[in-house]
Amino acid sequence: MTKQFYQFPKDFWWGSASSATQMEGGAHEGGKGENIWDRWYQEEPNRFFNGVGPENTSDFYHQYKEDIQLLKETGHNSFRPSISWSRLIPTGDGEVNQEAVTFYRDVFQTMRENGIEPFVNLYHFDMPMAMQDKGGWTSREVVEAYVRYAQICFEQFGDLVTKWFTHNEPVVTIEGQYLYGFHYPGELDFKKGVQAGFHSILAGAKAVQAFRAGGHKGEIGVILNLTPSYPRSQHPEDLKAAHIADLFFNRSFLDPFVKGEFPADFVELLREEGFMPEVLEGDLELIANNTVDLLGINYYQPRRIKAKENMPNLKAPFMPERFFDYFNEMHGRKINKYRGWEIYEKGIYDILVNVRENYGNIPCFISENGMGVEDEGRFVDENGQIQDDYRIDFYKNHLKWVHKALEEGTNVKGYHVWTFIDNWSWLNAYKNRYGLVSLDLENNFKRTIKKSGEWYRSVAEQGGFED
Ligand code: NOJ
Repeated sequence: MTKQFYQFPKDFWWGSASSATQMEGGAHEGGKGENIWDRWYQEEPNRFFNGVGPENTSDFYHQYKEDIQLLKETGHNSFRPSISWSRLIPTGDGEVNQEAVTFYRDVFQTMRENGIEPFVNLYHFDMPMAMQDKGGWTSREVVEAYVRYAQICFEQFGDLVTKWFTHNEPVVTIEGQYLYGFHYPGELDFKKGVQAGFHSILAGAKAVQAFRAGGHKGEIGVILNLTPSYPRSQHPEDLKAAHIADLFFNRSFLDPFVKGEFPADFVELLREEGFMPEVLEGDLELIANNTVDLLGINYYQPRRIKAKENMPNLKAPFMPERFFDYFNEMHGRKINKYRGWEIYEKGIYDILVNVRENYGNIPCFISENGMGVEDEGRFVDENGQIQDDYRIDFYKNHLKWVHKALEEGTNVKGYHVWTFIDNWSWLNAYKNRYGLVSLDLENNFKRTIKKSGEWYRSVAEQGGFED
């Protein structure tokens, strides 16, 4: 087969993403307040893989200067950290912690000095405990506290940051907190989930409004995990189930954030089942008038949908699950054998085509794409470097589809991998490694660039790769 060079634009964003709770550490230092992860760990450390909690993340809080050098060495021209709300405002709605202001200013400044554009996310699953005690996203008061927090960030860091994001994967927050119980408080209550989801969309729109009203420079967006929902057959019930999955897990957030409205059939479904959230006068206009400038797309795997046998099964605990099953028939598909997730590279293209055709070709970028590997130490060579050729293939095969979408006219401006240094992944802690750089837990958190990190640098330097 003849080789081809996949050339990306000169100003393409090459980078990666992480989040405050997953990389900072220093959970009880520098005046940081408690957040839901600190509380959950304190309540039951064994909930977390090997009992490792949020204070044992990769220690960016102390090592950020070295880490920013590593970002440079692995070719980054951009990087997405998040701000920890509970570090900046320990009670969520009270005094601003000046130590945190100094810390984040120095992080963003150092990134800039090294040619790395900060893409800053305001909310990555980490509700301050004092705000969760007030109901978290189910509470209107917390929406107002979040908007104040966002405004403080724009004011304190707006001279150093021009790319802002209101949330990361808001649907996962809802799934984790109120649908499946993998985030605190793990309260399984669909109605609360719908209310919390509505409030996080409202909070996002209010943050966008505040950003524009404040005359801050740059762009503001949202990061959504989009999971194409493919029916497992052409049977009408499977097609309908796939459509419902798409409404719940993609369009419930994508449509209001980008188009300023909710899909009519989604609203109808909620209404029929008695799950409409409380919406106050003016909320829908506010959402309609404050859509985002930029869309970040996280893509890992699609959903393969099959209708429930006797749909709807009213006894199933959560409404979407009354309609479909997904992911229990993997045979015949390409699987990440080191973790079990399906690998379907064309999914990334299908999303980009959908965004081009149905969402006004909004400026977008791939804000996460990556491969988790269990027990990755087995791939270390005699020089101590992880030989992760599987990860290089994973990136190449996805980037080829991004390239195709770009050539066809999708307004895709960059590609960020998940992630930079192996980081702490919530309940899974360090079970699955995702980094371009490995982290040695037994050896003082020593960092070593993996083979994929070297490869990534060459891609960023050349603006593409040959394959
Ligand atoms: C999505 C999330 O944004 C991130 O927090 C998580 O660790 C990765 N995916 C990997 O699962």
